[in-house]
Amino acid sequence: EPIVAVVPAAGVGARMQADRPKQYLQIAGKTVLQHSVERLLENDRVQAAVVAVSDDDPYFDDIQWQSDKPVYRVSGGCERADSVLSGATYALTFLNAHWVLVHDAARPCLRSADLNLLIEKIVNNTAHVGGILAVPVRDTMKRTTGERVEHTVDREQLWHAQTPQLFPATALTKVLSEGLADGAIITDEASAFEWANQSHIVVEGHADNIKITHPEDLVLAKFYLDQKTQ
Ligand code: C5P
Repeated sequence: EPIVAVVPAAGVGARMQADRPKQYLQIAGKTVLQHSVERLLENDRVQAAVVAVSDDDPYFDDIQWQSDKPVYRVSGGCERADSVLSGATYALTFLNAHWVLVHDAARPCLRSADLNLLIEKIVNNTAHVGGILAVPVRDTMKRTTGERVEHTVDREQLWHAQTPQLFPATALTKVLSEGLADGAIITDEASAFEWANQSHIVVEGHADNIKITHPEDLVLAKFYLDQKTQ
């Protein structure tokens, strides 16, 4: 059952305050996007990658992919979910994808063992439609009204949602298009499945799978990537 990676990379990354979108900043001689995509393609079960970028993106076509597998460019959309839907529709229609593995362009430090674990747990699991990598919350969590603390939230039930997120291609395109049409708040793929009441699971990953958001995250990402190549 072919798995196709879909990577939304059409964001502008305003919080980085850089001269270009964060997925095109360099770490150890490669762009963040290239690290993120190649990490997925290294997995034997992943057959191709579809990257959703802005139509006026001047950087993508210059990338020299270090993989034998194909990387396709599609047009991104206004919101992350629009970009994912564009990529997932391409994967389903033109690449015959059975599974779609969605991964943020801005997460270059994914561990290959965590990717493997996610794939193994999801493709062999018939009780749930799909699942996501996530890590348990470490800090004590407070609910507030303004600055006033109301109470402590039970952190046993709280997780940080990451990517990759793995779902069947047909189900994903359906819940994303229906959810978007309905005005649902979709901040990741799993939230579209929540909206549709379709059961899915978390698979525990690691906190070093950071999403590059602020300038200091680049330093941290370089540190994690250097550790991996040692
Ligand atoms: O901005 P944020 O970090 O939440 O973006 C997550 C991912 O979604 C990034 O890889 C970004 O490029 C992508 N994105 C997109 N299309 C948009 C907005 C964000 O592909 N319209």
